[in-house]
Amino acid sequence: PPLRPFQITFDAATAVVDPAGPVLTRRMADLEGLFRDQRAWQELRGSEKVVYSVHSSPVPETPRELPQSITTISPGELSGELFMTKGHQHPDPQGEIYLGLTGTGGLLLFDGAEHAWLDMSPGTIGYIPPGWAHRSVNVSADEPYRFLAVYPGSAGHDYQWVLDHGMGARAVRLGDAFELVPYGG
Ligand code: 6PG
Ligand code: NI
Repeated sequence: PPLRPFQITFDAATAVVDPAGPVLTRRMADLEGLFRDQRAWQELRGSEKVVYSVHSSPVPETPRELPQSITTISPGELSGELFMTKGHQHPDPQGEIYLGLTGTGGLLLFDGAEHAWLDMSPGTIGYIPPGWAHRSVNVSADEPYRFLAVYPGSAGHDYQWVLDHGMGARAVRLGDAFELVPYGG
């Protein structure tokens, strides 16, 4: 049955959503095949450290609904490559918006040919057009990066696409800043 109108409170400082939906926690073991340095990844694959977490609202991922979730990416890097989400395509190509909440990050987009990078900070809305794979990156060395995502309930998540096609670029620490390097490099 369709949902009734309801209110969701969230705490931008903790990412806690009330009423709460599913909470996902991603550690190194969940990020197989994604970091450039696979040897370093193997060594850390048993690590308990949380790379990112996703707190969803109770709005279900069903057609016509508009689910939301808050992602928090820890500061960190693996052989210089900044902590990031797995990244995915929406199998049913539909747009999505992100709103920066705390910290500083980036939104890496890839349509299979061209990549794009959007700097994200509190108050920034990043627009993901239909057909662009998307991955988020924490560019701060010491602060978590947190953002709200709002997406159509029928969009779905295709993670294999990123394993097959990459993301066009990688975000790598460069002194106090970072640079984008070619995906294979
Ligand atoms: C979505 C959003 C977003 C995303 C998380 C985690 O479509 O649901 O893009 O909520 O899922 O930021 O990123 P991954 O899904 O790539 O692990
Ligand atoms: Ni998405």
